[in-house]
Amino acid sequence: METKLKDMGLPKSIANVFAARNITTAKEALSLTEFELMQLLDVGLADVASAVARISEIACPPYQTVLSLLEQRIQKETHGGHLPTRLKGLDKALCGGIPFGVLTELVGPAGIGKTQFCMKLSLLASLPEAYGGLNGRVIYIDVESKLSSRRIIEIGAESLPEIFHIKGMAQEMAGRILVLRPSSLLELTESLQQIKVSIFQHQVKLLVIDSMAAAVSRDYGHAAPRQHPLGWHISFIKSLAESSRIPVVVTNQVRSQSRDEACQYAFQEQSKRKASEAPAGYDSHLVAALGIHWAHAVTIRLVLEAKSGQRFIKLAKSPISPPIAFPFTITSSGISLLNDDGQELKGTEISTIQYQGFHKDIFL
Ligand code: GTP
Ligand code: MG
Repeated sequence: METKLKDMGLPKSIANVFAARNITTAKEALSLTEFELMQLLDVGLADVASAVARISEIACPPYQTVLSLLEQRIQKETHGGHLPTRLKGLDKALCGGIPFGVLTELVGPAGIGKTQFCMKLSLLASLPEAYGGLNGRVIYIDVESKLSSRRIIEIGAESLPEIFHIKGMAQEMAGRILVLRPSSLLELTESLQQIKVSIFQHQVKLLVIDSMAAAVSRDYGHAAPRQHPLGWHISFIKSLAESSRIPVVVTNQVRSQSRDEACQYAFQEQSKRKASEAPAGYDSHLVAALGIHWAHAVTIRLVLEAKSGQRFIKLAKSPISPPIAFPFTITSSGISLLNDDGQELKGTEISTIQYQGFHKDIFL
């Protein structure tokens, strides 16, 4: 909005001179130097300087407090800028759910529940706001063709019967989840570029990439994910999340770290030594498939793991919460927490990925 000089409370004499020279807006006045104004208005430096100071003060955007930014955000964005997962303890730790505008990573061994979690999130994002959703479309990049439409409907009907029994609701929600199945990393790259435009055109409220590690290892072999720098993808996906202000959820798999692998960082020495001393069959020596650049790029890291046959979801990296783990199970209604209190984690518990006594079929 243009600010008019006549409404700025300037001394009448100088306001009249501006008007007489047809300078009516702050923009016109401030685009001239003080010297030019002196010549044009035929007044002294002191008058010009105080008029310019007054105009700048009124025309400049005022500073904002953290409180006012917070209030604006809550007013503007659904659920204060979060997609609630409906896993109570986790939502509490995440201050409302999966945050908009940043990358959230789900990492864990095969069969632990990453895709199950992504399907549930997709369903939740597609729900109307009145039912706790984001009332939008979801783009689901299903690299390994593991998304099951039947299972999504089942999760919806079992976990939200009051909504899914409304006639036509299941079809409408399922119709909002757009699935892409790129066959190579190059195709995934092209899809991401198109998505940047379609997010705005199609009211997309969640982007899922399941799994980024699979996309890389398909093209470069299983040893490759940690070696592939993924520099372009990291910055593109981050900027896409930021510019569209939607939550972006990306899954990552694990690989075992061979004992002769050189330590890259001093802080890894201790955990490496511990793992190599561990008894045979104690398979705690898993690391995320995508390497250290990826780990730094994500804002939230959720590790899904198993200890003594029990599944846990661990908030391992977060700017707002200490590391905390919740036991979970997968039932017909999808992922659910066994308790909402969580256990705070310390030391190596935070960064390791456990896979003890886990056999995916026994949970069925
Ligand atoms: P990868 O993609 O191989 O890395 O694994 P993931 O972590 O994505 O595993 P996924 O989410 O596919 O989880 C598979 C597990 O979910 C199975 O081992 C089952 O324990 C559970 N699961 C899958 N479908 C059902 C179902 O219909 N009912 C129940 N109760 N559990 C299911
Ligand atoms: Mg999966």
